[in-house]
Amino acid sequence: MKNIIITGGAGFIGSHVVRLFVNKYPEYHIINVDKLTYAGNLANLKDIENKPNYTFVKADICDFDTMVKLIQDEKVDGIIHLAAESHVDRSIKDPFTFAKTNVLGTLSLLQAARLYWESLPEKYEGKRFYHISTDEVYGALEFDGTLFSEETKYAPHSPYSASKASSDHFVRAFHDTYGMPTIVTNCSNNYGPYQFPEKLIPLFINNIRHRKPLPVYGKGENVRDWLYVIDHARAIDVIFHKGRIAETYNIGGFNEWKNIDLIKVLIATVDRLLGKPEGYSLDLITFVTDRAGHDLRYAIDSTKLKNELGWEPSLQFEEGIEKTVQWYLDNQEWLDNITSGEYEKYYESMYANR
Ligand code: NAD
Ligand code: TYD
Repeated sequence: MKNIIITGGAGFIGSHVVRLFVNKYPEYHIINVDKLTYAGNLANLKDIENKPNYTFVKADICDFDTMVKLIQDEKVDGIIHLAAESHVDRSIKDPFTFAKTNVLGTLSLLQAARLYWESLPEKYEGKRFYHISTDEVYGALEFDGTLFSEETKYAPHSPYSASKASSDHFVRAFHDTYGMPTIVTNCSNNYGPYQFPEKLIPLFINNIRHRKPLPVYGKGENVRDWLYVIDHARAIDVIFHKGRIAETYNIGGFNEWKNIDLIKVLIATVDRLLGKPEGYSLDLITFVTDRAGHDLRYAIDSTKLKNELGWEPSLQFEEGIEKTVQWYLDNQEWLDNITSGEYEKYYESMYANR
């Protein structure tokens, strides 16, 4: 395997995957295809941008002709597909953009890869289309200890999860119909460096630092299963190389947190690292109108991945949170560059509407 496209490589998870592959596999040519939406940021990849085995291509995955040309010109052997619209709150406001990027964009890549691979004498031999998806396609769990397995029926609730579910079905359909060597993984909530600060953890770290209100949706009772982003990137590496074709693997940390408890850990950690007294920022907690259709609980069973491929999370949550908070405190300039301008206006309007 030589030439690999990683889509969405300028985003949060994609940038960690690009970094891991560029550093670990000097024999691969890694082509990062990203449209650079509000969520894409080349500053996430400063440390590897001049590596000889790395190329950045600014392009929209929905642009079929460009995808066809790129895949043929670069003689692409593998695609790791992360590009997507990824924020549930935005999907509630603007579902069309999610259908376009997540469904039609994925279809455009699948069809472009099919055209090229089917034109080769070896066809699909040695090729791989790896689609990165989310546990949100499974819908919501009750507080009953059950977990999402690879057999759980799809039941998406938000426009975001509906669009991801649809894209997962297209990927599997390309295997079943054309024999394309596909893999799908469904991962739980990620956290760590370089996450766009509209998502809970970086948003709240930044707000605590600047003594801004922390908008907790509903009563803060929803549960999420959190995984350190570098552990997700490690899982993607293992699955891309050793995962079985046409399989689905769930990726998660067996690490469930009620939002309000997690928020208290964030407050305690930021306050401690900034030398504030215990409980200093608790007054910032502000309960606001709940998210429409807010899924109660997500929790992933990643036993299959552990048993088949030996992957396990490497970091305990306490260690991961400490590293993450420290990273955002040390990289205020990275945050400031994103949160100034357009995004600030967007955030203020979202917050005002609650
Ligand atoms: P992100 O929003 O941080 O980054 C998405 C990237 O995709 C950005 O760089 C953006 O510019 C790019 N992009 C968007 N539309 C594009 C288009 N039309 N053409 C080319 N590039 C485009 O997202 P993330 O949190 O890093 O998530 C990456 C993937 O992982 C997504 O597919 C998401 O569904 C999935 N996922 C995310 C999480 C999570 O907790 N963040 C968990 C499980 C799965
Ligand atoms: P988020 O980071 O948006 O991820 P997802 O919705 O994909 O799980 O949100 C994580 C949880 O935090 C989710 O239950 C919604 C909640 N939340 C808040 O309470 N306030 C906020 O400002 C945000 C962004 C999220």
